[in-house]
Amino acid sequence: MKTNTKDYLPSPSRDRWDAMFYDRHHGYVSNLGKDLLELLDPKTGEHILDLGCGTGHLTYRITESGAQVVGIDRATTMIEAASRTYPQVNFEVGNAENLEWIEQFEAVFSNAVLHWVKPPEPVIEKVWSALKPGGRFVAEFGGRGNVRAIVAGLCEALDEAGYPENKTLNPWYFPGIVEYGTLLENRGFQLRMAQLFDRPTPLDDGRNGLRNWLEMFAGQFFQSIPAAEKRAIINRVETQLSPQLYRHGTWMADYRRIRIVAVKPECG
Ligand code: BEZ
Repeated sequence: MKTNTKDYLPSPSRDRWDAMFYDRHHGYVSNLGKDLLELLDPKTGEHILDLGCGTGHLTYRITESGAQVVGIDRATTMIEAASRTYPQVNFEVGNAENLEWIEQFEAVFSNAVLHWVKPPEPVIEKVWSALKPGGRFVAEFGGRGNVRAIVAGLCEALDEAGYPENKTLNPWYFPGIVEYGTLLENRGFQLRMAQLFDRPTPLDDGRNGLRNWLEMFAGQFFQSIPAAEKRAIINRVETQLSPQLYRHGTWMADYRRIRIVAVKPECG
């Protein structure tokens, strides 16, 4: 199989992610992706691309089927951690918008990543090219309304702190199933399944759960805000959201997922 040897420029925010911190505090990301593997239904001998593999736990699970898997992630730190944990698995630093594979894979799999990629069309195009005719695209990510309460709380706190322009730095793409399904069908995919569903998700670390989540994932909103003011904004978000999202010592993130299965037709 051709490998993706190009050196990609990692995104500054994702590449700063500390892989151990991510695994320790956000291990639920790959745990919750396990039933997505059933939908992928990997088979011995298939070639499968895991797009945005993070620390590689699901990539490894896919290899247990006997499939030949490549896991890519644009964060070097994640790929280094994945390669240390699973040295027998093929991991590469790579960027979803720059895939160079042409008709190499029976399946492209992606969990909890595509909400980071705006606009979505270039990735859909690359997935299409990477799939063999008859190949499938199985993905789950944040769907329309994902983390709505968290985003609203953050935006309100940014307004109150005098940083309304930082609301425009929202890095996430959370489409509905009609919107994303239409993009797939416009490219020629046959949409076989599309779901949008709530998945309230407990955050690790007790009362620090939301704070850690914001530190890990929402850094872009705080661009150019001095550290002390950032702390004050996060305190305000916690105060505002605790009646809604903090229960019995655990923060619950208001996740909503979109899940799709789409097939590249054999011909046409
Ligand atoms: C998610 O998995 O839905 C998600 C994670 C981080 C930031 C935004 C959304």
